[in-house]
Amino acid sequence: MATSDRSDVGQLDGKVVLLSGGASDIGRATALRLATEGAAVVVGDVTLEGAEAVAEEVAAAGGQALGLRCDVRREDSVSAFVERAVAAFGGVDCIDHNVAWSHPRLDTDAVGVDLGVWDRVIETTTRGALLLARHAIPAMVARGGGSIVTISSGTSTIGESTRVAYGVSKAALNQLTRHLAVRYARDGIRANAIAPGFILTETAAAQVPAAVQARLAEANPTRRLGTPDDIARVVVFLCSDAAAYVNGQVLHVDGGHQIAGMM
Ligand SMILES: NC(=O)c1ccc[n+]([C@@H]2O[C@H](COP(=O)([O-])OP(=O)(O)OC[C@H]3O[C@@H](n4cnc5c(N)ncnc54)[C@H](O)[C@@H]3O)[C@@H](O)[C@H]2O)c1
Repeated sequence: MATSDRSDVGQLDGKVVLLSGGASDIGRATALRLATEGAAVVVGDVTLEGAEAVAEEVAAAGGQALGLRCDVRREDSVSAFVERAVAAFGGVDCIDHNVAWSHPRLDTDAVGVDLGVWDRVIETTTRGALLLARHAIPAMVARGGGSIVTISSGTSTIGESTRVAYGVSKAALNQLTRHLAVRYARDGIRANAIAPGFILTETAAAQVPAAVQARLAEANPTRRLGTPDDIARVVVFLCSDAAAYVNGQVLHVDGGHQIAGMM
């Protein structure tokens, strides 16, 4: 079934969402979709120009956004990001840790993986999520609760012969998400992970040959590739009150690819 561009506008009216890694691809689509649903979006990225450009795009479409530099590898940068968001919009209701960093050539297997790459992948994806949660949770508690979304990956729940650092960082992110879900539920905070399958981002479209894209689409039970907006819409759901009883889950958003045994 084709998805519609229309949605229940206003699902996130009055909510403030902090988005890490919002300058491109899935992050950019998420900022636009969150704002369409009424959220004020604080777009953080290690690339300030990129974060500001997305915030301007949101504003041009009639939404509310602020673009800030946020390097999730540095605790002072993350704490300043949260502080500036609270100063600008009065609080925090939701966070979406979208950032990941990878190095396809050097992130190989247990024997060969470059240890500097291993450290940076874990530091960015997993430790970065911890830092963002650690600094945002007190602000969320002050608002009476909220929603934490982490962007994981389909690879977090399978075995792969390569990308060992990426897979471990995402599996650890799932466990961090379950910890947050159980520990902070008493404070009104839910935490859930989204595990995308292959998403045809601008970057992927430029790098993956058309014939390979076609083969991947054909192999997917839904007969198409995922789009950044497929992920963005699920972020909206998990941030919204419609997901009030969804907590501690890893939600695969991949058209059924993994359950069909096709990773
Ligand atoms: N694209 C896919 O097919 C796919 C599949 C599964 C999972 N995912 C996950 O979805 C998320 C988004 O993927 P994408 O393809 O849009 O990624 P992307 O590489 O296009 O975007 C990542 C963003 O994070 C930013 N970033 C990198 N290091 C940072 C740091 N230290 N601090 C702050 N920002 C930093 C980058 O500048 C970039 O804007 C990632 O977590 C990725 O692992 C993507």
